[in-house]
Amino acid sequence: MSVKAIDGQFQINTRNSSYIMLVERGYLFHVYWGKKISFGDNSYMNREYDWYSSFSPNLEDGDCGFSLEGRPLEYSGWGRGDFKNPSIEIINPDGSNIVDLKYDSYEIIPGKPELSGLPSSYCEAGDNAETLKITLKDEISNIFVHLYYAVFEDFDVITRWTVVENRSGGTVEIARVMSATVDFDNMRYDVISNFGSWSRERHLERGPVRHGIFETGSRRGASSHTHNPFILLCSHDACETSGDVYGLTLVYSGSYKSIVEGTRYHFTRLNIGINPDGFGWRLSQGETFTSPEVLLSYSSEGINKLSSQYHKMIRKRLCRGKYRDIRRPVIINSWEACYFSFDENKLAEIGDCAAKLGVELLVVDDGWFGRRDGDTSSLGDWKVDRNKLPNGIEGLYKRLEKSGCKLGMWFEPEMISPESELYDKHPDWCVHVEGRPRSLARTQLVLDLSRKDVCDFVYDSVANILKTGMVSYIKWDYNRNICEASSSALPAENAKEFLHRYYLGLYSVLDRLTKDFPDVLFENCSGGGGRFDCGMLAYMPQTWTSDDSDAVERLKIQYGTSIIYPLSTIVGHVSACPNHQTKHVTSFESRLNVALTGSFGYELDPTRLTEEEKEKVRYGAELYKKYGDMLVNGEYYRLRSPFEENCSAWCTVSERRDIAIAVYMRIRMEIEPNPERLILRGLDETAEYKEINSGKIYSGSQLMGFGIPVPGPAAMGEYASKMWIFEKI
Ligand code: GLA
Repeated sequence: MSVKAIDGQFQINTRNSSYIMLVERGYLFHVYWGKKISFGDNSYMNREYDWYSSFSPNLEDGDCGFSLEGRPLEYSGWGRGDFKNPSIEIINPDGSNIVDLKYDSYEIIPGKPELSGLPSSYCEAGDNAETLKITLKDEISNIFVHLYYAVFEDFDVITRWTVVENRSGGTVEIARVMSATVDFDNMRYDVISNFGSWSRERHLERGPVRHGIFETGSRRGASSHTHNPFILLCSHDACETSGDVYGLTLVYSGSYKSIVEGTRYHFTRLNIGINPDGFGWRLSQGETFTSPEVLLSYSSEGINKLSSQYHKMIRKRLCRGKYRDIRRPVIINSWEACYFSFDENKLAEIGDCAAKLGVELLVVDDGWFGRRDGDTSSLGDWKVDRNKLPNGIEGLYKRLEKSGCKLGMWFEPEMISPESELYDKHPDWCVHVEGRPRSLARTQLVLDLSRKDVCDFVYDSVANILKTGMVSYIKWDYNRNICEASSSALPAENAKEFLHRYYLGLYSVLDRLTKDFPDVLFENCSGGGGRFDCGMLAYMPQTWTSDDSDAVERLKIQYGTSIIYPLSTIVGHVSACPNHQTKHVTSFESRLNVALTGSFGYELDPTRLTEEEKEKVRYGAELYKKYGDMLVNGEYYRLRSPFEENCSAWCTVSERRDIAIAVYMRIRMEIEPNPERLILRGLDETAEYKEINSGKIYSGSQLMGFGIPVPGPAAMGEYASKMWIFEKI
């Protein structure tokens, strides 16, 4: 049992955490989230506050201790004196926007219900999973708010979402609806957030909670490169291996907001959900609106433990499909190998050469369709360019088949180029506002996926190619953000619903495609990691992490990504040297060591490599084939942070703790007089391990105590790295 509900008390227990709510005077208060507490009577946790001024309105005359502002609420309404940033705001039929949410009822549902139309986590037979549904109600407007808590006991994760139900008799407009609010009764925390831009995703920042509001999010119509939809709160002393850490991660790919507020009574309020800026949703009598899901997790043993909980949850209960638990094919991608300049012969040569080195699949990236010789045309015309591929997909497929190489294709299905047959035919299919200019980005517009006919077109474009049975991998790209966010098909009064409807449309297409073509491996991409989020991961088990393929830059990008996302979702490619984005010159070894993630490949022209370099490509492919399953399913440990030091280091340990792969990479060349050693984690301290390249034997306790010596900077040089592979004897 993971949920206990008695006499207005609710307690949720996962293996190592508890989450407690209490009802008092009709309101639902949040009183605790943290280390596990055995089930018991928690009524003493509701405390009286006696220090309010008349500027915090009292709900009951004369009772100074009862103001919503001075209480940690479970889900906060609007207009009844809780002046903290609210969970919900609704415009009632009479124009008022009061939402006064009082406790109504609860239900415990075995397993986990689906979220209608939205990506979400799931449970499997044998899981200790159940869902608590608490219903709150505004007695005057007759708006019901259902708070859901799905408990994945063994994963140490609770997922939350909110359903608004209109029983008012009229039509209301939801102006704001957060997926989850969490109030803490103090401010003694740091916030760990992330920021970035194209080719610089998910860099980490940390600072104390202050009075006032700190928010991250996106108004770009995509979760975006700017801030990934997760936020952590931790004790001031928390580090990778100790301290309290709380995480909120949204299962959504559109505009969102996460807010951390330090309040006048020194509380901390966390809010996460669809970005209310520009959002609105009309709800008629009897209708419901479901918010995206959010994954909550708590660790009392530091940030890495929290990551490990998220990794397991996302890998096993959010990602789906036949590739979920296995290594992916070793791929070679044509993008950095030849950009738009290729033909059948060139691709067949690359595929043949790569296959001889152990590569299993060639991805034909951008440029194979319409008249796409640059990025200015043809998006939407998903027909093979016969100038480049005179024998169609079939011609290339057959030549690759002879080489023993499978075929993958790049698509950017949500886009339309003004210079395209599709645009000539359907100029109203793009996102636009009638009478206003249509802003281009990369010379393209976005298709209006709030429309069913456009969604059907997108489905057909991809399905027509997949039906040939020749394509076993799709890279699904999305290379701009949305402005003039509107649909010509939506009535004016529903205009603010557009961005969310766009995602409902996209998710319906992805749901159909991934169900209809279960053997195809889908890779998510948005100019690299511009939509690396749990929404997309619910359909596609991996994401092209960043368009920056440079081993040095990837250190920070992958470190930040790994805070939430498992190695199985992180795609790494060895690219050419000097690197095309940064011009950094790095050894093949460093490029390989960094790219060896849960989904590995190459992004270079192998026909131009020396024999010696080809051997290295072969070695990399062999390494991934041998250890790929363990990289996908292992425990990932961040050992040294590139945000804090002139190096980065990590290790992955197999589930049975019999194999460990550790990597240390030094960044700049600096004279460091002290001999460096790398202390590992996660091994079996009673076991002995052999490092397979050197043949040396170490005990688990040595490797996790003293660690392994790292060659000095003079021996290694700039941007140099070392990988050790330990196998239990
Ligand atoms: C985006 C992707 C790249 C590549 C190009 C093609 O930038 O992230 O990997 O596919 O588009 O145009």
